[in-house]
Amino acid sequence: MAHYRLETSWHPVEGSFGRLTFTLFNLSAEPLSGFSLAYTSETRVADEHVCNGGDLKRRLAHFHEFLPHDGLSVPPGGHWRFTVEGLTREPKHATAGVKSAYLTFGDGRHVAVAFGDLMLEGRDDGVAPPLLPPGRVEEPYSLLPWPLSLGLKAGNLPNVLYPAAKTQPDAIKALCLVVELYQRLYPANNVPFSLSTVKGGRAIRFVTESSIAAFAYELRFTAHEIVLSSADAAGRQYGLISLAQLLHGARAEPEIFKFPNFGAIADQPRYDWRGCHLDVSRQFYPVADVTRLIDILAWNKLNIFHWHLTDDEAWRLEIKAYPALAEIGARRGPDEVLVPQLGDGAEPRFGHYTQDDVRRIVAHAASLHVEVVPEIDIPGHSTATLLSLPQLVDGQEAPDSYRSVQGYPNNALNPAVEFTYEFLGKVFDEMVTLFPSEYLHIGGDEVARGSWLASPLCKALMERENLAGTAELQSYFLKRIKVMLSERGRKLAGWNEVSHGGGVDRDGTLLMAWEKPAVGIELAQEGYDVVMTPGQAYYLDMAQAEAWAEPGAAWAGYAPPEHTYAYEAEGELPEAVQEKMRGIQACIWTENFVSRAYFNRLVFPRLAAVAEAAWTRLERKDWNRFAAIVRMWPVL
Ligand code: ACM
Repeated sequence: MAHYRLETSWHPVEGSFGRLTFTLFNLSAEPLSGFSLAYTSETRVADEHVCNGGDLKRRLAHFHEFLPHDGLSVPPGGHWRFTVEGLTREPKHATAGVKSAYLTFGDGRHVAVAFGDLMLEGRDDGVAPPLLPPGRVEEPYSLLPWPLSLGLKAGNLPNVLYPAAKTQPDAIKALCLVVELYQRLYPANNVPFSLSTVKGGRAIRFVTESSIAAFAYELRFTAHEIVLSSADAAGRQYGLISLAQLLHGARAEPEIFKFPNFGAIADQPRYDWRGCHLDVSRQFYPVADVTRLIDILAWNKLNIFHWHLTDDEAWRLEIKAYPALAEIGARRGPDEVLVPQLGDGAEPRFGHYTQDDVRRIVAHAASLHVEVVPEIDIPGHSTATLLSLPQLVDGQEAPDSYRSVQGYPNNALNPAVEFTYEFLGKVFDEMVTLFPSEYLHIGGDEVARGSWLASPLCKALMERENLAGTAELQSYFLKRIKVMLSERGRKLAGWNEVSHGGGVDRDGTLLMAWEKPAVGIELAQEGYDVVMTPGQAYYLDMAQAEAWAEPGAAWAGYAPPEHTYAYEAEGELPEAVQEKMRGIQACIWTENFVSRAYFNRLVFPRLAAVAEAAWTRLERKDWNRFAAIVRMWPVL
């Protein structure tokens, strides 16, 4: 048991974002004095605030440190209480409070403090509704995403499927890849495939059929064999995954789900960009977690893993030219260059991917027809980079001259510092050896208003290039980045703000519309290729209901699984520009993701809902069928 515990509540106040009350309980046997209390919370204290019972000593983004008034001594069993009014936004959920806390004593020791949910005072909480109905199926087949067309008759359940005689080695290997995938996802279940002929099983005959579309497959069922036809390896793999899914459901819930012994499935994806993003900056995910998430993507027939490798809170990719990025920029703690954020407590936390890790992850994904699109988030969201490599800073720029929405001061790479381009050139050189993807994602989001305007180097650049302000400086920077990527044979992907201030060359640029659906229309009309990832439907860190008790972030509202499932991004786009829409993507921003249980609670089943929306046409979507099947689907 911890010696100290912090309880926090929030009380609404007319005309402000309300008042926080902190109560620190001393559960130790000694009086508590001569200390500060640090905690991390997305409910940030504003510059303008009133604190009763203590003083704010320091704050950086989500990190806060408070001091009691001089001479305070908390006896054993006693408590210290202070209140703060003056917040940067109103908390909406119980998870908007403290994410980590510790005490620092005069001798430099840091001691962990336990903490609970943010309690709501002075207002009734709504009741969190059930998020997933029991579900109902009309066709008794467990396929998710649901195929383009299907006409089947249910029959006996084969005990396993095996390759027909004379199956080619490449098809045998494809079958092995899928059975291994299945065994990783469901290690306690019976295997769906065997290389040996098994009595009571059924043969799969593989046919290469060039008339079938890329990524598509057909399955024809009879009582004695299954014919799997495809033009390419991806289609073949999707067909094998469908077979594994059919067996999985028929075994798990035999009253509801069956295996076909007559009829056919003809299937192909709706979009060619069926993505899932993961933010590994705010929270670090070890290689095994990343490869498991990729397994889950493959099972759901998602084909893009957008890997958000850097942000203000950490730089996670080994760059051999700049070891400081991982040594300094991937480490947060009370005595580190990067202060604790987002769940970090008294102990430092760190983690980065070595280039060997990256190669393993990319190869793992490729074997499952998942492409890894890496993101280096520039020019904004770069606190970890700037603190690791101070040569990137214009030394004459006034400190704290602008702040990001997350509260980071001066957090953007400077477009007028020539070293910025030398640095990024070397980073891109190493990235292109690691990532074979068509696109490199360079972020481009949330450059704060007023960025760089207090930098003398930027002022000179603005004069020289006739640039009017932050947005035009950003466009100048991104145009140079675009050229650097082109020189390395890569296309540019970014967030929707890349278009600001004149944007970049449309040719070979793909932008992700996240702020709201309307920006997707604007981008498409401006000539950009677009992936729709609106926060209001596809940001899986948003809470799933309005109720206070429901965990999650709230700035984009809340997204029940049914809304995520039913949302039709394409419906937002006028027909004339629909061809610019490449697909859709789920985003997993991890500020709040302090445990695996939390990850699973927020990400599932919504990730599978995005997967079905990405693969299956509107008229084939069915929320009740989805609900019946998704409960048998894997989580992290
Ligand atoms: C974003 O959510 N800042 C892309």
